[in-house]
Amino acid sequence: MKKIISASIVTLVLFLMISAQSCKHQPDVTPNNNSTVATSSVSCDPDSVYFENSILPLLISSCAKSGCHDAASQEDGVILDNYTNIMKTGRVKAGNPSDSKLYEVVIETRSSKIMPPPPYNALSSEQQALIKKWIDQGAKNNKCIECDSVNVTFSKQVTSTLNANCVSCHNASSSSGGVSLHNYAAVKTNVDNGKLAGSINHRIGFVTMPPSGKLDNCNLTIINKWINDGAPNN
Ligand code: HEC
Repeated sequence: MKKIISASIVTLVLFLMISAQSCKHQPDVTPNNNSTVATSSVSCDPDSVYFENSILPLLISSCAKSGCHDAASQEDGVILDNYTNIMKTGRVKAGNPSDSKLYEVVIETRSSKIMPPPPYNALSSEQQALIKKWIDQGAKNNKCIECDSVNVTFSKQVTSTLNANCVSCHNASSSSGGVSLHNYAAVKTNVDNGKLAGSINHRIGFVTMPPSGKLDNCNLTIINKWINDGAPNN
């Protein structure tokens, strides 16, 4: 009996270890109902159209309705409720809106073909343009994040701001002005001596950084917020 118990404990421990191990290597993606393409999040670029931010909500509210193109109704075999279904049943050809059924039907002028069909309103020209631009830009399963300067952490926002704007000139091998910003310790040194805040906020007595001009509001707020929080290694 003792043996059986200890054997089951060993099995349980092994199982827990294996499951913990396998979690570690999961890619950091948001699960998206059977989508095949990983969703990557970046900060919002005003010139890009993002699937999760703009296209999915538009198609859900205008097309994936009961009696139309939700999963239950699938009118004409078309389901427009998630990325995979939209690409497949909407016959979207990435980079080619005029060859994409989804776009063809929304810009149709014949009332017998246009989607949404009468008596529903056709999509506005802005909404049509959004779909066209998204397909033109590769019909990606993408999303963007608006400036998140509320829960600022070093490992996320601060690192990504510094990587995008500073590290090319301030790294271990090329530390312009004797300043490197490639890891926490290096950045913390320049928080403590006041140089980081001085340079990005264009304070008198500091070289203004980055050389190309002041950081945008989002990035500036992120760094200043983090410094005010005590520059934690979080
Ligand atoms: C294109 C290269 C380049 C980029 C990008 C750049 N720097 Fe610099 N940085 C320099 C050079 C060169 C100096 C030395 C200037 C001098 O001493 O006159 C410098 C100096 C500094 C200093 C010292 C300032 C002082 O008054 O002593 C700090 C701090 C600094 N940079 C921070 C940053 C931060 C933060 C960013 C990003 C937001 C950044 N830099 C982006 C090239 C760059």
